[in-house]
Amino acid sequence: MSLEIYKETILEHYRNPTNAGVVKNPDVISKDYNPSCGDVVEIQIKFDNDKIKKIKFQGQGCAISQSSTDILIDGMKGKKTDDVKNISSEDFIKKLNIELSPLRLKCALLGLKTLKTAVYSYIGK
Ligand code: FES
Repeated sequence: MSLEIYKETILEHYRNPTNAGVVKNPDVISKDYNPSCGDVVEIQIKFDNDKIKKIKFQGQGCAISQSSTDILIDGMKGKKTDDVKNISSEDFIKKLNIELSPLRLKCALLGLKTLKTAVYSYIGK
């Protein structure tokens, strides 16, 4: 896939996020922000034992932070807490397949950071 198509994918997820919303009676809510700009991502999850049953996010911010969170969540339904723990930042950035400056790297990883915090918080309960 060309870089242009990937850019278009990012914009499409930003304009029409498929995973935006709230989960009814979530087991965990995690909210984080990028201190350099104040952009926010909140992730809500309902678990079925150690599996993600329902997951949604809300947020405000740049196209990269919001669309990368939407893309991340796309693959999360049915995943186990261990699967989430094992996602590396490097692998996720590779999956996004867009060129990112160091500042933009923080945008792209905001959702993953928030998701991991949510899972660790659930495990710790
Ligand atoms: Fe704020 Fe991207 S500019 S998260």
